[in-house]
Amino acid sequence: MTMGNNNHRGFWTTRFGFILAASGSAVGLGNIWKFPYIVGQNGGGAFVLIYLVCAFLVGLPIMLAEFTIGRKTNLNPVGAFQSLKPKTPWVGIGYMGMLGGFLILSFYGVVGGWTFAYVVKSITHTVGHFTSPKEASEFFGSFIANTGEVIFYHFLFMGVCVAIVLRGIHGGIEKACDILMPTLVIILFILMIRALTLPGAMEGVMFYLKPDFSKIGAQTILIALGQAFFSLSLGMGCMLTYGSYLSEKENLTSCAVYVVLLDTLIALLMGMVIFPAVFAMGLEPAEGPSLVFSVLPAVFTDMAFGTVASIIFFTLLAIAAVTSGISLLEVVVAYFIDQRGWNRKKAVLFTSGVIFVFGVPSGLSFGVLADAKLFGMTFFDHVDNIASNYLLPLGGMLTAVFIGWIWGTKRAEEEIEKHETTFHWAYVWGFLIRYITPVAVLFIFLARFLK
Ligand code: TRP
Repeated sequence: MTMGNNNHRGFWTTRFGFILAASGSAVGLGNIWKFPYIVGQNGGGAFVLIYLVCAFLVGLPIMLAEFTIGRKTNLNPVGAFQSLKPKTPWVGIGYMGMLGGFLILSFYGVVGGWTFAYVVKSITHTVGHFTSPKEASEFFGSFIANTGEVIFYHFLFMGVCVAIVLRGIHGGIEKACDILMPTLVIILFILMIRALTLPGAMEGVMFYLKPDFSKIGAQTILIALGQAFFSLSLGMGCMLTYGSYLSEKENLTSCAVYVVLLDTLIALLMGMVIFPAVFAMGLEPAEGPSLVFSVLPAVFTDMAFGTVASIIFFTLLAIAAVTSGISLLEVVVAYFIDQRGWNRKKAVLFTSGVIFVFGVPSGLSFGVLADAKLFGMTFFDHVDNIASNYLLPLGGMLTAVFIGWIWGTKRAEEEIEKHETTFHWAYVWGFLIRYITPVAVLFIFLARFLK
């Protein structure tokens, strides 16, 4: 198809490559690490249902909106809003997005570092040989409290992201995703079968699938919404930036549908791995950020080829985290390159340096700063909460209002329908993005604050 053309553009000229790239950004710690522990903390099945509604009713239309703005303008978020409505405050959405990317990467890098550490510890046989689930959990607890180790791996994770973003995003990542995404799904299936066959697993399945709405309140719904934004990489211009490299002939609607489906599938699958295991091992579903890191090593311990499984799992998790981390870094970097005229090297080194330093207190939030709480939450919790539960939904809502009411769905629909379709999904989308999506976000915000 692209024969005779410049081959490195091929990355974005095939629909498959684009879907993989966007999924590489979407699928990450949000699906594998965050989703299970948030479900665990918020009562299980009912939360999962609310999450699904948020992902498809709010997330999907916003993803399409971001793709559309990106492809229309071929610019970074700040530049994009500026070019569509010059000299208006709407450019603020772009700046808010940058701030969101900055905050998210600051703590994302910390957890990315944990995954690196667990790869190393699986190889050196420290992880995967526990005598009890409790021991696995205590091991993790003491690891994340160890200042030196946490900072070292955090630095390493950021270093890997820097090395990749310095070179620009190349076909290498696409090729890697090509193999990694299917491998990840296969490994998750194997783990799921293992978890489901553990004695006592059914209790976990019930917890995960049986909705108990008594646990749901305004705060829980806001958390589900925030998680949908986080997991789908929405609300901060990340998908906008990716869409900006997409060719005219691709069907934006189906790309968005595939990315949302794949991301959701992997999150749901991960829940099916964790909850049966949690209950079978007699652990607490509401354990929080340490959930995946303490439950899975316990499962690996008494599994055939447990060490191999552990190495592969944490390696995939680490790579999934890197492909998301670079997309976060790229948004901040793109701003300095496009809007400030910096060269790539300066932009990458400066922004990643500042983000790393700002992330240090998040890294220490499970050790020396564990008791330094404000309103009952650590530094890590606050950064995550502000970015995921407020900045992302707000950014997404404003994007919806912008495209639905300011720039206008008519122009957006034209952009979407460039690729002719038999059924005009663009009109369905136009209705959602004007009336349903922003109102849903607003309503969830209001419910939270008027409570
Ligand atoms: N979606 C990624 C994950 O699930 C994280 C991520 C990458 C992200 N880019 C983003 C989150 C932009 C919010 C916004 O791990």
